Amino acid sequence: MCSIIGYSGDEGAAPIIVKGLRRMEYRGYDSVGVATESENKIELKKGVGKVSEVNSKVNLENLPGTTGIGHTRWATHGKVTSVNAHPHPSSSGKIAIVHNGIIENFEKLKNDLGEEGFEFQSETDSEVIANLLQKNYEIDKNVKNAMIKTVSELEGHYSFIAMFENGQLAAARFHEPLIIGMGEKNYFLSSDVLGFIEQTDNAIYIDNGNLVLIDQDKIQILDFNGNQIKPQITKVSKEFADVYKGDYAHFTLKEISEQPETIFSAGENTKEAIGECSDYLKHAKNIYLTGSGTSYNASLVAKYLFSKYAKIKAEPIIASEVQFSPDSIEANSIIIAISQSGESADVLEAVDIAKKADCKIISIINSLTSTLARESDIVIGMNCGPEIGVAATKSFTSQIIILYKIIQEISNEKVEIDFQEMSTSISKILEEHNNIKKIANNIKEISDIYVLGRGIHYPIAIESALKIKELTYIHAEGIAGGELKHGPLALMDASVFVIIINPDDSTYQDTLTSTREIKARGAKIIGISDKNTDSYDYWIKIPKANELAYPILETIPIQLLSYYAALEKDTDPDYPRNLAKSVTVK
Ligand code: G6P
Repeated sequence: MCSIIGYSGDEGAAPIIVKGLRRMEYRGYDSVGVATESENKIELKKGVGKVSEVNSKVNLENLPGTTGIGHTRWATHGKVTSVNAHPHPSSSGKIAIVHNGIIENFEKLKNDLGEEGFEFQSETDSEVIANLLQKNYEIDKNVKNAMIKTVSELEGHYSFIAMFENGQLAAARFHEPLIIGMGEKNYFLSSDVLGFIEQTDNAIYIDNGNLVLIDQDKIQILDFNGNQIKPQITKVSKEFADVYKGDYAHFTLKEISEQPETIFSAGENTKEAIGECSDYLKHAKNIYLTGSGTSYNASLVAKYLFSKYAKIKAEPIIASEVQFSPDSIEANSIIIAISQSGESADVLEAVDIAKKADCKIISIINSLTSTLARESDIVIGMNCGPEIGVAATKSFTSQIIILYKIIQEISNEKVEIDFQEMSTSISKILEEHNNIKKIANNIKEISDIYVLGRGIHYPIAIESALKIKELTYIHAEGIAGGELKHGPLALMDASVFVIIINPDDSTYQDTLTSTREIKARGAKIIGISDKNTDSYDYWIKIPKANELAYPILETIPIQLLSYYAALEKDTDPDYPRNLAKSVTVK
């Protein structure tokens, strides 16, 4: 999603803003812009591309002044053009804004403001904020009054930062993240702590429906009616500063490679929470699981684990679907929300609906200071360190490990998992990267890939297909083994590749039969298994393991395969086109 950032202090604003934008680029990245104020004049530069590309073209960093705002965009309204990039100036050029979210009533506001003589240059919904603020500011030249009136007229989900010609900054939060960074002599406003973590680890998380006013060295937080709010300063974990690729070519490869360690740390920062949630789960009337994308796929694994090992029924619901079937959430139940960022708008909305039905919220989150963490009754930390690659990798395996730990707590039988052995096996798979690279070279021209698995391997097939889509842009689909003959078999011919997830467990024989049926139709087969067969055209060997280790072990080669195929196709694995890491709009 878009990132917004604001800076007010005693150093040159533009280089600090550009640095912050680079760190937040994973949120959205089709265009970028910076505006600064110097000697009561606003100057602005923007362009299409990533931060470094635009910076080298127009030199964003040399804008003058010690106050500024910046933005990286993930287009929602209007094409990816320089004009549509933020910041947007008001008609007079005396105010500029950056915005994350969607202004739902922008068409009406734009028409009304247009009739009053305000001019618009872009196709965005965001530009109305600049002109509306200008209109309201002109009433009495009071920033606070202008902000209160403006937010009362906006509908939608937003956080925005406005910079006024006199160097004042103002910001508003309504269902999109906004955080203040408090330096010694400077203030930051940002959608993510990554925007300022190199400068300060003192943060104030702005609550929904609050405003921030920054005038030189004075900062005020108000509600939308103008009442003062007492700020609460939080220390942000310094680990968030650790967002460098090191010797790795990409964050995605770094994050895939960290998994032999991250499986140990999962949940370890919130140990009591796992015990606490097991009490809730054992006595729950209903259990629902929700999430988006990869996190939703983890909830499919959870359903399997809960029923097989704990004899508990748990229903996964895609987060964005909850609002369309709110009656499916029965009152006084438990909802387990899974989200790496804790900021996905769809997940927050699902949780909101569940809370209204008096459900308890257990969340599995990487970012413990996120909105979801603050909305939850119990928070379990993925604790896998910042995940910057847009396609989730290590967060998925951490989610699965936490689910295993919950199962160990609530199951009546002893559920044995040897984490040390699992870690060693992941390392062995990572060492096999040359074989996986060769296979990646063979799939780069393919237009359809199917991934087949049974039982607990079916959710992994779905997650694998998602990884292939995100990283390689190749059409991919997860198939439940038994469903092959009920439709997908019609698609099998020499033009497709099928990845068969077939470890040597109770699903093995049936999946081998499916493999032969596919092979007979001419499709090329990539087998992921601890056991080779002559049906595989390519074999990715995984170490022998118990049933619970397999889902983790078979995920790793497909992450690597997707990564290497992305390189073969010359796409950027860290920042796939059209996608954003943290989708904070619906
Ligand atoms: C976006 C990302 C996905 C991610 C999903 C859920 O769509 O591109 O990789 O799985 O959001 O994110 P969350 O932070 O809620 O886990």
